[in-house]
Amino acid sequence: MSFPTHRPRRLRTTPAMRRMTAENRLAAPELILPAFIREGLTEPNPIASMPGVVQHTTDSLKRAAAEAVELGVGGIMLFGIPAERDARGTASLDPDGVLNKAIRDVRAEVGDDLVVMSDVCLDEFTDHGHCGVLDADGYVDNDATLEIYAAMAVAQADAGAHMLGPSGMMDGQIGVIRQALEDAGHVNTAVVAYAAKYASAFYGPFREAVDSQLKGDRRTYQMDAANRREAILEVELDLAEGADLVMVKPAMSYLDILADVASMSSVPVAAYQISGEYSMIEAAAANGWIDRRAAITESVLGIKRAGANMVLTYWASELAGWLKETR
Ligand code: PBG
Repeated sequence: MSFPTHRPRRLRTTPAMRRMTAENRLAAPELILPAFIREGLTEPNPIASMPGVVQHTTDSLKRAAAEAVELGVGGIMLFGIPAERDARGTASLDPDGVLNKAIRDVRAEVGDDLVVMSDVCLDEFTDHGHCGVLDADGYVDNDATLEIYAAMAVAQADAGAHMLGPSGMMDGQIGVIRQALEDAGHVNTAVVAYAAKYASAFYGPFREAVDSQLKGDRRTYQMDAANRREAILEVELDLAEGADLVMVKPAMSYLDILADVASMSSVPVAAYQISGEYSMIEAAAANGWIDRRAAITESVLGIKRAGANMVLTYWASELAGWLKETR
């Protein structure tokens, strides 16, 4: 009988051995908390399909941001839900509109201690729920939308956002936004490109979170789940247009894309663990089918292992708290 001399199990014998030899570990500064603020709320409003996540009031958002700072979280990504919507998403440009005001309020709360990021997209602001304006045929008009994104970006930078997150998947959006920021003197406002963003069924709970008016889907502008090579093209274009970071979204069903992008990107890579990914784990845990904390930790670690330098996750603060405990 011959026994193995190579025994990979040696490095698994004790928690200390596993900890010392771990190839990847999570850290709070690489976590980014997506957060929703809804205009006109007097109390935080729970989102039924995302247990534990709420639509914030100004006060509760400021508290969540302060808590994120306390826990060492890296950034916060703000999404606004306006009281009034129209076909062109006009409320997105109002300096006192829900999102621009939230940026100002959060900056006043956290200063530079948290990277304050904001969503540059029209879907929360349009009465048809699309990420851009529609032409006469109901097709999302790319170039007409870009003009609004440019103005929206400047409004968000004026409000004090450190970094903008254009999530609408219009062609050329990074270049147009970069140019508008430069022209307005916001040379240090960074842009994280939702470079490879796929049309996904897993955005379902987010649509409830932002009270989306969308009927139909976003398949004429978001990427097709069948495509891998195309993600590289999207990233190359965004890099050429001046993206400071690039993102892959969703994360868990797209880890191959994330690994591809991580291997070629010359800027840091983010991944967005989206609403449906959050809700699936919460639902299974609520049923007692999986160990909640272990499953959450494993899911985010898997995204990091695939190549993400940063992870947007609705568990950012909770996870950061756990990381503090286990230090
Ligand atoms: C669009 C946007 C969406 C998400 C982030 N930005 C929705 C969409 O593309 O339909 C989804 C995030 C999530 O599901 O957690 N502004």
